[in-house]
Amino acid sequence: MIEMKNNIVSFTNNTVTQERPVQLSVEHVNIFYGENHAVKDVTIPIHEKSITALIGPSGCGKSTFLRTINRMNDLIPSARCEGTINYKEVNILNPKVDVVQLRKEIGMVFQQPNPFPKSISENIQLPLRFAGVRSKKVLKQVTEDCLKQVGLWDEVKDRLDRSATSLSGGQQQRLCIARALALKPDVILLDEPTSALDPVSSAKIEELLLELKNSYTIIIVTHNMQQAARIADYTAFFYQGELVEFGTTKTLFTTPEKKSTADYISGRFG
Ligand SMILES: Nc1ncnc2c1ncn2[C@@H]1O[C@H](COP(=O)(O)OP(=O)(O)O)[C@@H](O)[C@H]1O
Ligand SMILES: [Mg+2]
Repeated sequence: MIEMKNNIVSFTNNTVTQERPVQLSVEHVNIFYGENHAVKDVTIPIHEKSITALIGPSGCGKSTFLRTINRMNDLIPSARCEGTINYKEVNILNPKVDVVQLRKEIGMVFQQPNPFPKSISENIQLPLRFAGVRSKKVLKQVTEDCLKQVGLWDEVKDRLDRSATSLSGGQQQRLCIARALALKPDVILLDEPTSALDPVSSAKIEELLLELKNSYTIIIVTHNMQQAARIADYTAFFYQGELVEFGTTKTLFTTPEKKSTADYISGRFG
């Protein structure tokens, strides 16, 4: 766990012992909303089976950048994107890419838990059915596996038919993560997944992410610097649409290269 004393941050979980291969290579990505140049020439490697945190003050382009990684910005009419994000030797920004398939491989979890207003089990099973899975046995097994992966199985196994909205906020968010896992993604994008949760539920999600990074590549937007320091292997600091600095979390928080990074992490603005 992290300790913050006089802005000295200590790290326990996120020492990068061995650098993992690059899974997503982001090169010269620019994103516009009409005339607003929201993300400016971002180049960054995303290492597989690691946690990368995107930090920076509100409005600096974190969510915009995150949404581009599984083409969610396609849903915003004014949004336009240039550059390259190489994933499995394909530029996923190419308009010809099958975005339905892409979003199976690169799943997303949002700030507000958004389970379907359906039963707990249907939340896991609907995306699978949509993807063509028909076998009841498979649907049941995947439901159990996914709920176990997020530590929810024991809490809900006796009430799988109850509405997902009957769960607490933290449980709903874990269910949303389980739903993202059902399609066996490689990458999970999370946009401030704990900012609507109480501290205990947030801590559970952080523990879960540390567990999940053994199997998945995780990119998390957080406005909570301590959270980045606690869980991320790599951190990217954005400011006014620009990527100011990227590095291992430890380096970024202890010996940042740029003055604005140092100012931000020491709480001088934000
Ligand atoms: N859906 C949208 N339509 C138009 N402009 C947007 C939209 N979402 C974000 N923006 C603009 O893009 C910039 C970056 O916003 P955002 O990515 O939400 O930042 P952050 O997540 O870091 O707070 C801001 O200027 C914001 O107003
Ligand atoms: Mg945001």
